[in-house]
Amino acid sequence: MPLVTMRQLLDEASKGGYGVGAFNVNNLEQIQAIMEAARETQSPVIIQASRGARKYANDRFLYHLMEAAAEIYPEIPVALHQDHGNSPETCKSAIDLGFTSVMMDGSLMDDGKTPADFEYNVKVTREVVEMAHERGVTVEGELGTLGGIEDGVGSGEVNLTDPDQAVEFVERTGVDALAVAIGTSHGAYKFTKEPDREVLAMHIIEEINKRLPNTHLVMHGSSSVPKELVDLINQYGGKIEPTWGVPVREIQEGIKHGVRKINVDTDLRLASTGAIRKAFAEEPSEFDPRYYLKPARAAMQEVVHSRMESFGQAGHAGDYQPMTKEEMATRYEKEGHELTAS
Ligand code: G3H
Ligand code: 13P
Ligand code: ZN
Repeated sequence: MPLVTMRQLLDEASKGGYGVGAFNVNNLEQIQAIMEAARETQSPVIIQASRGARKYANDRFLYHLMEAAAEIYPEIPVALHQDHGNSPETCKSAIDLGFTSVMMDGSLMDDGKTPADFEYNVKVTREVVEMAHERGVTVEGELGTLGGIEDGVGSGEVNLTDPDQAVEFVERTGVDALAVAIGTSHGAYKFTKEPDREVLAMHIIEEINKRLPNTHLVMHGSSSVPKELVDLINQYGGKIEPTWGVPVREIQEGIKHGVRKINVDTDLRLASTGAIRKAFAEEPSEFDPRYYLKPARAAMQEVVHSRMESFGQAGHAGDYQPMTKEEMATRYEKEGHELTAS
């Protein structure tokens, strides 16, 4: 099965009333873990690469690993997505490489750190939408900023999404999907205690969904940071301070209100680190990387499997045939004409 566009995958999720996990990848074992979990659960899936991932793995390696995944798992619809593109140039390079979806994160300036103003965000996002839709590629925008900093990316400042601005943003940019800031952060340290609705602003999702029922909403920073994964790391010499993530039941609430894409990276990092620490501690004489990467891969697969079931994407892999990017480009063109005619 060829790579599917994220727009089609999210439209189908919307029809079926479920969410789709978007898992970050940097290497072979992560891709294998996600694809195996997708096969076990018969799930469509989004695989995403950050700028850091593209630099770490090298674009060609990443792309060919994805091609291999599409070839080995022909029954699984997979969208390949650029996570947190910092500029139209980054998005263009991802499209040139064959990604079927890009995020233009114009909530930050192109340094990936400084919060940007609304007009800048509209301008760069619109530019990416024009370039991407012409080639049948999906675009995710972001309004508001998340907390947390990963690999020097992120402002560390939380600015919740304003629903009025969200309507204007979607109208002026034409994005397919909108990432909303509701109080979550990237990384393991999201909340200092179990989050209540004071700190996790789920009402913003409901409000935006009421006003923009046809826009797919995206939750970033959606790792749940399970205590057992943190405990395993600490049991084997790690040092993760007490912390809370986004409860799965809150994500499920979001899915009832238009959340279709759920970004998860940290939970896979925690799962693999715990498994590797355990393997190192149990057999200090082992030095074959397969000895510790195998349990790391299995631990990531278990997390992904569980999220796929919780988000509701399980069982939906065979629901539809992927449209080509050319077919999607024609659809965008037609929609554009209809909009100007009305
Ligand atoms: O946006 C955050 C993702 O977890 C990617 O993180 O930039 O460290 O690859 P990264
Ligand atoms: P987590 O750090 O919560 O896994 O979030 C990942 C993310 O939002 C990637 O864009
Ligand atoms: Zn993110």
